[in-house]
Amino acid sequence: MSASICAFILTFSALCGSGVVSGALSRPTNVRLTSFNMNLVLRWDSPYGAVSDLLYTTEYNTSLTAYRVGCLNISLLECDFTHLNISITEYGKYTGRVRAQLGPGISAWAESNQITLDKDTIIGSPNVSLLSNGASIDVIIKDPVFTVSALRKVYIATYNITYWEYGQKEKARSISNIEQSRVVLNDLDLWTKYCVQVQINTERNPIPSKPSETVCESTTNNEEAPWVAAVVTFVVMAMAVALVVVTVVYRKSISHFLCPRDALPQHFKEMAPTNSSMYVVMQKTHPPEEIYHQVTVEEGYPLEAGETSYSKQPDVAVEER
Ligand SMILES: *[C@@H]1O[C@H](CO)[C@@H](O)[C@H](O)[C@H]1NC(C)=O
Ligand SMILES: *[C@@H]1O[C@H](CO)[C@@H](O)[C@H](O)[C@H]1NC(C)=O
Ligand SMILES: *[C@@H]1O[C@H](CO)[C@@H](O)[C@H](O)[C@H]1NC(C)=O
Ligand SMILES: *[C@@H]1O[C@H](CO)[C@@H](O)[C@H](O)[C@H]1NC(C)=O
Repeated sequence: MSASICAFILTFSALCGSGVVSGALSRPTNVRLTSFNMNLVLRWDSPYGAVSDLLYTTEYNTSLTAYRVGCLNISLLECDFTHLNISITEYGKYTGRVRAQLGPGISAWAESNQITLDKDTIIGSPNVSLLSNGASIDVIIKDPVFTVSALRKVYIATYNITYWEYGQKEKARSISNIEQSRVVLNDLDLWTKYCVQVQINTERNPIPSKPSETVCESTTNNEEAPWVAAVVTFVVMAMAVALVVVTVVYRKSISHFLCPRDALPQHFKEMAPTNSSMYVVMQKTHPPEEIYHQVTVEEGYPLEAGETSYSKQPDVAVEER
């Protein structure tokens, strides 16, 4: 009889899970201390069968110091120690712990793994941009920003640059142990698109950084590209300026040409286009047949042909200029 009551109470408290019945709250679960770009964040899951409205308190220690308070009475399931006013050092060995609270009920502490910040932090991806420079491509790399300290203060870091012709990643080439943040790739084909990805290697952190986003850029012609672009720009601008000047200088002629309606009477109009006295004389005398006759009589056919082409030449030259 008493055994069955005991079994009932055990089952009941197991079902309730949070253990309020027995006065003891169960501990948070899956507690892990993590670090990304040198921050220090404790994460956990709520206790099994937990009700809502739980609050959590966290603490942290180092291998040299006792536990100190981190976040107090929070309802989130994580605590970023590097956002608190406490000093976290890049070479420190840390452990975290967390307990749950519900009214007067307090759970036992649940402890996390231990991490050493510089060895265990996950290094984020560098930021890579490319600059096409004729037949070569400049790779410009920016380090990820660390919450505590800076990449190059914590590590001796080198870049591993992987690049490939667009669409042919299986033929990628890599250059590693690069220390400069700006690198020229110059064993490239002309007029070809290349893609680049960069990872950071460090001597103390066994895991390379997350790879950067893939960025792509095309090579152009050897050296010529900037030169051609400059010349084209110059020619286009010169033509634009010339067009404006011509328009301004000849705006009267142009408007006459475009709007011949309100012009002078037919007679004046015939005279108007030229001031040449020769033309005026010809207009007055109207002797076209006489001239033609003179030429054929004096010079004969071959010479006439030669003379005609000779007299045409200046016109052609002017048009070409
Ligand atoms: C946190 O909660 C506990 C128990 O509910 C309470 O005694 C304490 O004053 C709270 N602390 C803060 C800083 O709110
Ligand atoms: C941070 O902590 C230091 C001492 O630990 C204290 O002097 C300072 O006022 C605190 N700053 C803030 C913003 O709480
Ligand atoms: C990378 O750098 C560029 C230029 O400084 C910036 O616009 C961009 O937001 C950065 N990207 C990331 C993921 O930080
Ligand atoms: C560089 O990165 C490539 C591609 O991720 C990888 O295959 C290669 O092993 C890396 N080299 C070094 C020295 O890390």
